[in-house]
Amino acid sequence: MERDNNQLMAAKDLICIVLAAGKGTRLKSEVAKVLHRAGGRTLIEHVVTACQPLGGNILVVVGHQAENVRAAVTPFKATTVLQRPQNGTGHAMLIARNAIGPKARLAVVLPGDAPLIRTEMLSALIDAHRRGGAAATVLTAQLDDPTGYGRIIRNRDGSVAAIAEEKSATEAERKIHEVNSSIYCFTLEKLWPCLAEVRPENAHHELYLTDAIAQLNKRKERVLAVMAGSAREILGCNTRGELAEADRVFRARKAAALMDDGVTIYLPETVLIDGEVEVGSDSVIEPGVQLLGKTRIGPHCRIQSGSVLTDAALEHHVLVRQHSVITATLLSAGAIVGPFAHLREGTELRAGARVGNFVEVKKSVLGEGVKAMHLTYIGDATVGRESNIGAGTITCNYDGVKKNPTIIGERVFVGSDSALVAPVRVGDGAYIAAGSTVTEDVPADALAIARGRQVNKAGWAAERRRKMSEENTVASDGGKTADETRGRRSAARALRKRNPQRQQGKKSSRK
Ligand code: UD1
Ligand code: MG
Repeated sequence: MERDNNQLMAAKDLICIVLAAGKGTRLKSEVAKVLHRAGGRTLIEHVVTACQPLGGNILVVVGHQAENVRAAVTPFKATTVLQRPQNGTGHAMLIARNAIGPKARLAVVLPGDAPLIRTEMLSALIDAHRRGGAAATVLTAQLDDPTGYGRIIRNRDGSVAAIAEEKSATEAERKIHEVNSSIYCFTLEKLWPCLAEVRPENAHHELYLTDAIAQLNKRKERVLAVMAGSAREILGCNTRGELAEADRVFRARKAAALMDDGVTIYLPETVLIDGEVEVGSDSVIEPGVQLLGKTRIGPHCRIQSGSVLTDAALEHHVLVRQHSVITATLLSAGAIVGPFAHLREGTELRAGARVGNFVEVKKSVLGEGVKAMHLTYIGDATVGRESNIGAGTITCNYDGVKKNPTIIGERVFVGSDSALVAPVRVGDGAYIAAGSTVTEDVPADALAIARGRQVNKAGWAAERRRKMSEENTVASDGGKTADETRGRRSAARALRKRNPQRQQGKKSSRK
């Protein structure tokens, strides 16, 4: 509680500035870098949500695809300022200055492409900065391969002397493994005069924020470093490879957190679980499963291999069999789905309902204990409790213009291969004969038969077989040409017509 109060107090003079105006040339993409995704969210969303608990205002510098980046951050109550053209990270800070209120004394500055940063690390950075009475504090990390990052050059007393960018670093500086995360804490009144001294003297003719560190040293200001415990926390996503690496870390973090909470995950490196997903204890996630968006799974559920759940809600003891695709659907306790089921937006399965293989359900409610086990489409329908939907049943919900509802009562038996042409109602306890095309309402407890009446023609099949074997005998009359055979067949037919007696005689002589 005391810490919360301290944070709130501290937040008054704090501003978080996220630099997100760059294009991200190295991604070779039409989409701005910070809008690429890792762990199911855009990079910029991760950074902004890490800042949120710090309590200060959040200002995002936008430029490339400014509108889209703005749209991504405004739900998080961040304000934005436009940097155009984008003349480097130092220039981005100068632009931010125009949008910073007078109360802010301290700024946490972050790049929009470092999504793995955690709030705890940022708090530790601010604490160190305040305690050390520094003008600037740089978050650094020790990397096995520092290629591409700015290198940290230390003074003898351990404070930071300068940051050398890869391209302008000397041979000796390139051998340094401590790198700049691009995450800093600045005392703003100390930063501004130094930033004014920075010149665009580099390969890209840009103003680098990193050059402000040497300027601060020139003015004898104190620049400290805080080293991140884990190097991966500062990973900047400049390339597709780094993006994949960040995604892998998010997935691993999420799977580990769920396992800590009592969820069994087999081969966790093969599952894809978004950050906001919730799973109850004693639930089991099999290999190759994807749990996306705001999916919430209760306790004692099992999600089998290859299933993809997006924004789904599952109560307890739900079984999702292999390769089911479930979107924006509610599965109540004890429901069983799949294998190979497709449950689409607006679907609800009440307790104990079952949907089997090759069944698609859209915007429909299946009551308690309803079964639709094979090869069925149910769309815009309500099915009452304990009803059975036979194999191959189709609700014909679309009339070419609009969608129409199908209302099926309780304990209804829909025979296999039935088509229910909506809008249509089937009353409680009714039966629909297999193969029916139901176009009119069916009263409760009635039997609806809506198909051609069956006609049995006695002996028809036997007669057909006899004719065919006779024709085959004629055709196989050795060594004839096709024309000759055809000629002989029509001659035989003409003979039979003219003299049926003779044919009868032939038959009986065969007996
Ligand atoms: C930067 C640092 C480098 C550090 C690395 C860590 C500089 C000069 N270099 O390099 O020391 O090791 O981050 O990941 O700062 N941006 C703007 N406006 C601009 C240019 C960039 O807003 O004019 C934004 C980008 O959108 C990005 C962030 O600033 O989110 C950093 O830019 P980026 O191009 O990724 O810098 P790096 O080369 O990674
Ligand atoms: Mg970067």
